[in-house]
Amino acid sequence: MSINTVGIIGSGTMGLGIAQVCAQAGKKVVLVKATPGDIERPRGKFVGSLDKAVERGKMEAALRDTIIANITFTDQEEAVADCDLVVESVIEDIEIKKALFNRLEGICRADAILGTNTSTLSVTAMMAVCQHRDRVAGLHFFNPAPVMSLVEIVHGFETSDATLKALNAFCKEIGKAPVLVQDTTGFIVNRLLTPYMLNAIRMLERGTGTIETIDQAMMTGAGLPMGPFALADYIGLDVVIAMSQNIYEDVREGHHAPPHTLVRLVQLGYLGRKTGKGFYDYSAKPPVGNPALVHPVI
Ligand SMILES: NC(=O)c1ccc[n+]([C@@H]2O[C@H](COP(=O)([O-])OP(=O)(O)OC[C@H]3O[C@@H](n4cnc5c(N)ncnc54)[C@H](O)[C@@H]3O)[C@@H](O)[C@H]2O)c1
Repeated sequence: MSINTVGIIGSGTMGLGIAQVCAQAGKKVVLVKATPGDIERPRGKFVGSLDKAVERGKMEAALRDTIIANITFTDQEEAVADCDLVVESVIEDIEIKKALFNRLEGICRADAILGTNTSTLSVTAMMAVCQHRDRVAGLHFFNPAPVMSLVEIVHGFETSDATLKALNAFCKEIGKAPVLVQDTTGFIVNRLLTPYMLNAIRMLERGTGTIETIDQAMMTGAGLPMGPFALADYIGLDVVIAMSQNIYEDVREGHHAPPHTLVRLVQLGYLGRKTGKGFYDYSAKPPVGNPALVHPVI
């Protein structure tokens, strides 16, 4: 089965990024805003970031125009009825995702593939609320989706070979490097990265180093493009805490539970870059990826 039309549910950080990737590869995209509110907000944010890329010489104006022309913004889930593939990218909450899959079954064609961009939740749990379980799989993009080439294709318990094959071909068509992974909490990357970020937070709590020194050490000593605190802010602390809770619930080992500082920051609404403050304060609008130029909050 070839995938030419893609529905995306959720117009947050990841939904917008995945929409861009698909649209710039020539796919027709229906992007659905999943929560009430003005559809012009995510649309304006999306077009604004493409305009900035054109102004900075990072994107041709013609490509921007193609991307915009290939995307239909809507707040109606029913608009994905004719899509070959629908990828949900709403908040990391299993009950919300299960309810969405249940509705999508009633909306989408029986041969459409239903994918989830979940970071850590069980694809099989979402599949379980569906009648046509063979066409459900994980399609886990990385942030920022237009830049990061990996996509984890997640094999749920009853995902068919035909679905996996179609998703593998699709990922290659949109310029991504897919890996196949079994449905285990956190898959490959987040199962390794989440404990790494939690360990850095515990190291901060023990006073081993500051936010800046720990980040700096991991960049200059381990050759990483950003340190664990800048990474956590980039991902979103609400997403990091959800990943931590999901892995902890699965394995019940204390070191996977969210550390105190992470819990408090999320309680205060300091979610990282998307809210302007997390471990760092971004109110001075620093350049992306340079934590040395922003102010640690803690
Ligand atoms: N941020 C990352 O680095 C990253 C990377 C890969 C995958 N993911 C996953 O992608 C998904 C979306 O994450 P994001 O980073 O785009 O988050 P985000 O906060 O930027 O966007 C969240 C989206 O969920 C919607 N939403 C919020 N409350 C909702 C509700 N009650 N019902 C339905 N929709 C609701 C919002 O409208 C928005 O579209 C999550 O499953 C996350 O785990 C995130």
